[in-house]
Amino acid sequence: MQKVQFRQMKDGTKEDYEFLEKHEIEYVAGLPDRIISALKNLENTFSGYQVTRLGHSLQTATRAEADGADEEMILAALVHDIGDDLSPYNHSQLAASILRPYVRPEVTWIINQHGLFQNYYYAHFFGGNPNERDYLKDHPWYQKCVDFCEKWDQASFDPDYPTKPLEYFEPLVRKIFSRPPFSGQYVGSQTMGKSAVDIAISGVGI
Ligand SMILES: [Fe+2]
Ligand SMILES: [Fe+2]
Repeated sequence: MQKVQFRQMKDGTKEDYEFLEKHEIEYVAGLPDRIISALKNLENTFSGYQVTRLGHSLQTATRAEADGADEEMILAALVHDIGDDLSPYNHSQLAASILRPYVRPEVTWIINQHGLFQNYYYAHFFGGNPNERDYLKDHPWYQKCVDFCEKWDQASFDPDYPTKPLEYFEPLVRKIFSRPPFSGQYVGSQTMGKSAVDIAISGVGI
């Protein structure tokens, strides 16, 4: 079989879908390369800061590692702004969606909420509420997201910080994004059926 015969999904056979699944698995194997390439692309996003978005991402991951964060959290720090390119006003949810099949729910939740939590540092300059995040105050991961922002994210705009290069983090990108997706070992009872949007709306871990 070179291609499936169906023109509507409802007409597909078991053989068709097994054939497609094989192709999908082969394609997904290239995910780490695509993540690395998307990170490189962050060199060309938002200007005006003293570091590029890639520099900021690398610095956030470097600081996380220096503070003893575990591998999933370091990877999350590295990709937390990867959505700036295609989803500048919803970038937290994009990064959380990319991470969610491969890391524990706590890490996904922190990345999903980080944009809201970062508002604490500047929303008041635009008439917004810097404490909007407080509606999540009783959430078990609230403080972890506060810390993510305070210690790593908001702090990582320093051109003089000894930031590790992308090559340094590549093995970690390959390791975690090569995991079987939605493996209970890593993500608990989550399934593909629930989306990062569910997490955003409910504000609770799943
Ligand atoms: Fe961000
Ligand atoms: Fe950031």
